[in-house]
Amino acid sequence: MKIRILCVAGARPNFMKLAPLVAALDRDPDFLPFIVHTGQHYDDQMSGQFFRDLGMPAPKCNLNVGSGSQAQQTAEIMKRFEPVVLEERPDAVLVVGDVNSTMACALVGKKLQIRVIHVEAGLRSFDREMPEEINRVVTDAVSDLLLVTEESGCRNLMAEGVPPDRVFLVGNLMIDSLRAHMNSAKESDVLSRLGLKSRAYGLVTLHRPSNVDQPGHLAEIMETLAIIADELPLYLPIHPRTRARLGEHKITVHPHIVLTEPLGYFDFLWLMSNSSAVLTDSGGIQEETTALGIPCLTLRDNTERPATIEEGTNILAGTRKASILDAWRQLQQNPKRGRIPKYWDGGASARCVEVLRTYFASGGAAR
Ligand code: UD1
Repeated sequence: MKIRILCVAGARPNFMKLAPLVAALDRDPDFLPFIVHTGQHYDDQMSGQFFRDLGMPAPKCNLNVGSGSQAQQTAEIMKRFEPVVLEERPDAVLVVGDVNSTMACALVGKKLQIRVIHVEAGLRSFDREMPEEINRVVTDAVSDLLLVTEESGCRNLMAEGVPPDRVFLVGNLMIDSLRAHMNSAKESDVLSRLGLKSRAYGLVTLHRPSNVDQPGHLAEIMETLAIIADELPLYLPIHPRTRARLGEHKITVHPHIVLTEPLGYFDFLWLMSNSSAVLTDSGGIQEETTALGIPCLTLRDNTERPATIEEGTNILAGTRKASILDAWRQLQQNPKRGRIPKYWDGGASARCVEVLRTYFASGGAAR
């Protein structure tokens, strides 16, 4: 009998983590993975396009939860996920990352006494104003098996009293995807489409509620980016949340900041690989820039991914005009070089499969 793993896909950053793992499980005769999509992200640009680019199998079902407040979205996912788990009775529910779908499905699985596996466990920003930090803490608290991307994650889980035999450093699945798809990314025509020359532009992404939901914060960040854009043209593939807020608050965008629609995976990888710097508030992009050796300014006051700073090319730039410009000047004078953190080598999915095999072979005890 194959071990049936229900893999939860919810929002854009989940897809590049799940793709290599689902493929590796699928190739293995011991496992039968299948995807349930919560529908947290639903636009083709935010979801379908990534399934195609990453070559992912179609979800077995889609819960179509859509958008809502934190509580509405989380509750809706839980309500719609429970009957699916009851019907499927998988051997485990596997969740990745830190989005609302991750936490909601982990809670449902655990309460139905199904084993819960969390991939990207243990990351902590220690900032409970971030919805993702609550999702990380709650998901880890109910997970039976905790697979970790960087050493800080193991230390955080030990400090929280998680039994060490449930915690495994497996590396970074997102970097598995990056390495697997770099050749396809090279085929992208995104540079010619946007009229860009390699290393002659900066790439920006912005979507954290703390940066975009308050008009004062968003206006200050856009004003700061305008100063930078006078030195280096900036490209900003715009998240739907940010586009909506710019419109609602009538914030004008400097002409050297070019807004584009959200890009597909290959286009974005190629745009990032050829940029001279990235400014972002995303979690995953901090990791991808470290893997690519591209300088990254993180527009936040903290990060749950300290390896990108201690070892990689990432600099915490804060969210205020003075601190961002300081970090920008620092970057111009002394571009940060980095090294690749342990196990960010394209082999994370193989390590996950081996941990799962050993876990189930020994009976797959719950916590
Ligand atoms: C979510 C995650 C965040 C992740 C981000 C990546 C949580 C708490 N947040 O934030 O960790 O970094 O995804 O994008 O889970 N919308 C669309 N089309 C879509 C999806 C969303 O237009 O396909 C719009 C809706 O107006 C929605 C807004 O974007 O209200 C925000 O979407 P939501 O899923 O609530 O959160 P994100 O900001 O995307």
